[in-house]
Order: sequence, then C-alpha cells, then structure tokens
Amino acid sequence: MLSVRDVSMIYQKGKKEALKNINLEIAEGEFTALLGQNGAGKSTLINILAGNVKKTQGSVSIGGYDLDKKELETKKIIGIVPQDTGYDFVFTVDEALKKQSGYFGIKNNKAYIDEVLEALYLTEKRSARIRDLSGGMRRRFLIAKALVHKPKILILDEPTAGVDIEMRHTLYDFLVKLHQSGTTIILTTHYIEEAEKLCKRIVIIDGGKIIADEPKEELMDAFSRESIIEVHFDQALNLADFDFLSDYHPHIEDKTRLQLKASKKDLSKVFRQLSEKNLEFTNLVVERPKLEDIYLNIIKH
Ligand SMILES: Nc1ncnc2c1ncn2[C@@H]1O[C@H](COP(=O)(O)OP(=O)(O)OP(=O)(O)O)[C@@H](O)[C@H]1O
Ligand SMILES: [Mg+2]
Repeated sequence: MLSVRDVSMIYQKGKKEALKNINLEIAEGEFTALLGQNGAGKSTLINILAGNVKKTQGSVSIGGYDLDKKELETKKIIGIVPQDTGYDFVFTVDEALKKQSGYFGIKNNKAYIDEVLEALYLTEKRSARIRDLSGGMRRRFLIAKALVHKPKILILDEPTAGVDIEMRHTLYDFLVKLHQSGTTIILTTHYIEEAEKLCKRIVIIDGGKIIADEPKEELMDAFSRESIIEVHFDQALNLADFDFLSDYHPHIEDKTRLQLKASKKDLSKVFRQLSEKNLEFTNLVVERPKLEDIYLNIIKH
C-alpha cells in the first residue's frame, strides 16, 4: 500500500540530515504509530509522502504509484493531517472543504461532508472562519479536510496536540471506526498511551533513523518480562520485615506500599511466600510496563 525505500533527506537550510535511509512498508489495513522525540524526522517523512517536501534520495510508492512520477495519483490515495494548522485562514469551514473537494474534482460532496463534520462535532462551526476556530477545533477541521476525497490511507501528524481530553477520546472512537471501515492509518503522537490504545504496529524514529518497528504486542511482551507488584497495607511498613523477599528487590513507597519486581514465571512463587506469612494486606496490584516506559527505554539506549 505504501512503500518507502532508502529515503534520505538533507535540508539545504542548515545542511541538516533529517532522514537517513528510511525503509518502511505499510500494508493495507494497518494502524501504525510513528513515534519519536522532537526533531526526530516524523514530520519530514510525512511531508515527503504528502509531496510537500522533496526528498534528497530514495523512492516512495503509494498504492503502486511512484511519488516522483505520479504525484497526482498518489495524492488521491492519501489524506494528510498536517502538524501545522496555519492554512485556509480567511475561509469558512464549509468553503475550505468545498475548495478541497474541487481540488480533487469531486462535485456533489455535500452529504459526505455533512457526515464527516457531524462525526467530528464541527457541524455548528461550518460557517465559522478557520481563523476564528480554537486550536482544537482547527485540528478537527484539518482531519475533515484530509478526508474529503475518502483517501485509502490517512496520515495524521499529531492530530490530538492541544485537543481536550474528552474530544481526544471522541477522536479515538472516530479513528477506530475509520480503521474498521478499511482505512489504513498512520498516526504520529507524543501521547504514547494513544499509540498503545489505538495502534497495532509501533515504529520509532530517532535522529532520522528507524530504531524500532514491531507489532505492539510483541514489543510490549519483549519488555514485560519484569512486572511490578505492589502490595498495599493499612499501616506503616518496615523494610527489614520483608527480607524473605530479597530476591524481588523490595522497596517501600509512601510508608504503606510494598513494591516488588518479579518475572512472569516467579509471580506465583512471590504470592506463595506472601501468603505463607499471613500478612494482612488491603490491595495487590500487578503492573506490566506501559508502552511509555518501553518507549523511553528504547530511546535512551
Ligand atoms: N524546513 C526545514 N528546513 C531546515 N531544517 C528543517 C526543516 N524542517 C525540519 N527541519 C529539521 O529537520 C529535523 C527533523 O524535523 P521534523 O520536523 O521532521 O521533526 P519531528 O519528528 O516532526 O519533530 P516534532 O515532534 O517536534 O514535530 C529537525 O532537526 C529540524 O530542525
Ligand atoms: Mg513534527
């Protein structure tokens, strides 16, 4: 569906090598997160796919079309939600969406636009000028704009930055439905829990290179060998009383919570040792690392 081969990008201004030999194959129906720190090269890659930035080297094919030879065809296949919200300032939402439909030669698009505006809670704002929308509304407008031509692939560059938490969850539901109806989605975000919740594949880019590219579950399993066990008590604890658990790195949090680290295979042993002591605890929580912890770990190394 989307194929990026040996793509490199050097910006003339500053002689910055923003991408170094990027290779990425996205199959139809995937829901992929593209993660990375500020300046990692995510937007550069997306802008290349959108045809807004000319790559220095490599090739890109979208839906079987070579980006360099068939740019118009590739534009019909992808919808891009840019990170930068500064477009179409003087137009109203309706005008901008009509203009965008016209760009793709679509005439009677009103029913579909109505549907998209409704799903993005923008119906009430359709006569408002883009410059008068709030930051979060403008992001939703950009999603609507990226969808007017019903692209097979939707690429979103930080669509939820600055969007309030309730609306973010509304957007998650929207993206899940869009994915279920067959759209291939690539999502860039700094909210790692968003990627954990929505995406099936995690690609991490660092200093212009892909440093991880794995199915989410595999990535999480590989790093989840050690779970954190937290045992809550209703009285202050003394670390010396837990010497019998010394293999599991006991540690006391907030005076009343005992924390242990154990591999999956040792979990039952830990529980047995705890119960043999007849300790009166009030709660017991086993947590596997979140994608955020795993992400930080990968970035650090
Ligand atoms: N137009 C440009 N001219 C020169 N250098 C640029 C340009 N755009 C980006 N860069 C540089 O390329 C590198 C990658 O930037 P890019 O915007 O792709 O990062 P990003 O991963 O999207 O970061 P963020 O999370 O902050 O959006 C950075 O070092 C940036 O300074
Ligand atoms: Mg960016």
